[in-house]
Amino acid sequence: MWRSGLARHTVDFKSLLFLLAFAACTSSEPPPADSATPTAAPVVDIVLSELAAPPAELSTVGSSVPFACDEPIYVAQTGWTVDAPVLADPHADTLGAVPAPSQVHVGWSGDPSTSMTMIWRTDSDTYATHLQIGVDDAYGTTLAGSSFLLGTDLLDGRVHEVRVCGLQPGTTWHYRVGAEGAWSPDYTFTTAPPPGSTEPFVFGVAGDSRGSPTTWQSILAGMASHGVEFRLFTGDAVVMGSRVSEWDDWYDAGAGYIESVPTIAANGNHEGLAQPYFALAALPGNEEWFSFDYGNVHFASWNDTVANTNDWATQATWLTEDLAATTQPWKIVFHHKPAYSGCRPNGEDANVRTYFVPVAEAGGVQLDLAGHNHNYERSVPLAGGLEVAQTDGITYVVTAGGGAPLYDNNQGLSYTAVSVETQHYVIGVVEGNRLTMTAYDLGGNVLDTYTLSP
Ligand SMILES: [Fe+2]
Repeated sequence: MWRSGLARHTVDFKSLLFLLAFAACTSSEPPPADSATPTAAPVVDIVLSELAAPPAELSTVGSSVPFACDEPIYVAQTGWTVDAPVLADPHADTLGAVPAPSQVHVGWSGDPSTSMTMIWRTDSDTYATHLQIGVDDAYGTTLAGSSFLLGTDLLDGRVHEVRVCGLQPGTTWHYRVGAEGAWSPDYTFTTAPPPGSTEPFVFGVAGDSRGSPTTWQSILAGMASHGVEFRLFTGDAVVMGSRVSEWDDWYDAGAGYIESVPTIAANGNHEGLAQPYFALAALPGNEEWFSFDYGNVHFASWNDTVANTNDWATQATWLTEDLAATTQPWKIVFHHKPAYSGCRPNGEDANVRTYFVPVAEAGGVQLDLAGHNHNYERSVPLAGGLEVAQTDGITYVVTAGGGAPLYDNNQGLSYTAVSVETQHYVIGVVEGNRLTMTAYDLGGNVLDTYTLSP
């Protein structure tokens, strides 16, 4: 609703630099997978006075305010746009014409047991970026965050981001975002148990919702019925990552689910490393390859649609060190392109097999979750391409039935244990040394269930 009535706008100097950099770099952008209407460069005025320093009690980065984080917020601009992230605009009290928060959602930039990141959108002229948080709806703590423009079309509005740190694990928190006079409703989320905890938990996995936000909405509802504490997404949320309208549809479909439960996504080839993908997501690390612990499981994700071919080796080295460093008994990886898949036309990805499978095998990974090939598949446990005992190898799962057109999956390969061509999602239940994974179709029928040991 805020995409209306805004013909002339004010932006800060850093955003102007970004706009110029974006314009300079788009000439080298590879052609998109399909056509999109280019947006004209907006008319801008520079009004530095709008970016006055926030009130002292709200200058939260590195401050002594409870739940403040040490790290400032950067806007990732990798891939097709520009290489270096830029610092987001500091908070100011300015409200625009449409300051009410929309698409409020949570994610993890850091430790899921002690931190959370909130992201929402407003019109481009609203700078006020507040979070109120506490153990009940009296809150008790107010934090300020940062904001930035989404892409180059001011009609796409402003993205707001606040991070909280130093939370108690395993605790339910109330929060609201926005500003005085434009607060969101009250929402809640629950921090993860402490790393290493054997407390049981439930998570969901799905992928490849591109082109069908209504299917994604059905999957969110299905996962919620199982009480998922977070969702893994195996990539390709949208058809073209640079098209903001598709992200609008994806996040709008999440209303009622994404305010309380994070979706942690791997980059898919259709995301294209485009700015809106990074701008609207809160992910750990550099948001392309990262890891986090939830209970006694170490989750790691890599990007198998790289912007720079050097990133293959860089990521392999990172994953080697990352897996060597964890002490958790469970190690699960998730990413986009499968190493093992009987689904055509895409089949197995040679780069994933070359750079990541040997590292994952040596690092003791038990489960590999991928997307890209639009079906559900599970392999027998494999090591070096051969079937082995479950505890000696990796079980490979393809979960890519989130709404994209289904692919031919009937190849009869020897390593395929289960193969179903239908829309679906997967629920994981971790109970200490037992992991039960169950795939469901959108009617709630069980497609596959199996149990793993670490
Ligand atoms: Fe894909």
